[in-house]
Amino acid sequence: MTDITTDQATNADAVHLDPERLRALQLERLRWSVHHAYENVPFYRRAFERAGMHPDDVRSLTDLARLPFTTKNDLREYYPFGMFAVPMADVRRIHASSGTTGRPTVVGYTQTDLDNWADLIARSLTAAGVQPGWKVHNAYGYGLFTGGLGAHAGIERLGATVIPMSGGQTARQVQLIRDFEPDAIMCTPTYLLTIADAMEEAGMDPRATSLKVGILGAEPWTNEMRHQIEQRLNIDAVDIYGLSEVMGPGVAMEAAATKDGPHIWEDHFLPEIIDPESGEPVPDGEPGELVFTSLTKQAFPVIRYRTRDLTRLLPGSAYPAMRRIEKITGRDDDMIILRGVNLFPTQIEEIALGIETLTPHFILELTRQGHLDALTVRIERHPEIAAAAAAAAAEVLKLRIKTSIGTSVDVRVEEPGSLPRSEGKYKRLYDLR
Ligand code: DLL
Repeated sequence: MTDITTDQATNADAVHLDPERLRALQLERLRWSVHHAYENVPFYRRAFERAGMHPDDVRSLTDLARLPFTTKNDLREYYPFGMFAVPMADVRRIHASSGTTGRPTVVGYTQTDLDNWADLIARSLTAAGVQPGWKVHNAYGYGLFTGGLGAHAGIERLGATVIPMSGGQTARQVQLIRDFEPDAIMCTPTYLLTIADAMEEAGMDPRATSLKVGILGAEPWTNEMRHQIEQRLNIDAVDIYGLSEVMGPGVAMEAAATKDGPHIWEDHFLPEIIDPESGEPVPDGEPGELVFTSLTKQAFPVIRYRTRDLTRLLPGSAYPAMRRIEKITGRDDDMIILRGVNLFPTQIEEIALGIETLTPHFILELTRQGHLDALTVRIERHPEIAAAAAAAAAEVLKLRIKTSIGTSVDVRVEEPGSLPRSEGKYKRLYDLR
């Protein structure tokens, strides 16, 4: 099959396609991508053959559902470069995600892949309201993580000025925000809270900085957290979504104008939602696991990659042709099953942030008491609130969790500053069983 064309001009035009033209583009690209994976990656050839499928069988977008899934384990098995679809000499960059267990997942990019990625980040920044000429403080981690370098190239592509700060060194972040006066910041939502705390410690008013927009993602966060961040820093906080296997940040981006969940950049990534148990596709609007097929990626195509992220597909709003995902509130591997009740850390976040005397700084500890699992929420009180008032708030939190989630937890109110602070993706859950 002949190669498909992607360049800055086609990427710029795609945002304005009407839905029908977008579907046609997706089908053309899907057929290319499926052929490309089949012809160049032995794993895909074998998987297709086992499923009795040939790339020529993909004649419509719905035929996608007949192809086999790809899982994180499949990618790990071909560590490090076995899933690459181009000769190593054509790979310009490698990233890797550590994951919580076992081997990292290694991904690769050709020059065209890197160009598309930069275009999609630039597009995402535009959706966030960032303008050429702005200064963007980039506090996503640089290195094998896709956040730092991925965002970096897109900021430059937009014609903005990148401040390549990376994660950590929080006091320095605060100083540079004060001195360089950036217009926008990119980091995880929990790290922005750490930075806001550090501003206050340094005697700065977080509401009085030059920052206008935060482009926040890489971890689940709730609308309650958004409100808290927007209030505390006097900025617009918008959600950026992505994962290394599918590209990195910028697979989907929320528009500042609507703040109603990230739009998937469907000219490059075809989404599906499936029932995580049966693997059957569910209609738009129904909840389930998000699955992606890459439409243009050369070095590391993915066909029906199971993200394990749980959400729903919604119609486009700010970008009518591109569907949105509902703000992702959890992954199936973050789900805690507590005495038969399923719960996600974001549910606790949502409830805790509704209580003024408590802070968004909390961790969850799972322990075993006798034969039963128990969950303890350790949460910091507000510095201005007396310890006794916070103890009362703990009772309220316990009760609200019980009524809205249906399970009993223990709550321990902690001293301000006593829990670990985020420097990137925040680890909320500690399994001590
Ligand atoms: O976290 C890429 C990224 C960097 C996205 C910077 C946004 C900003 P991974 O390390 O491979 O890649 O982790 C991907 O993080 O499957 C989700 O579970 C979670 N995640 C990423 N963005 C969001 C978000 C990067 N906006 C995994 N909301 C994904 C909720 C998110 N979860």
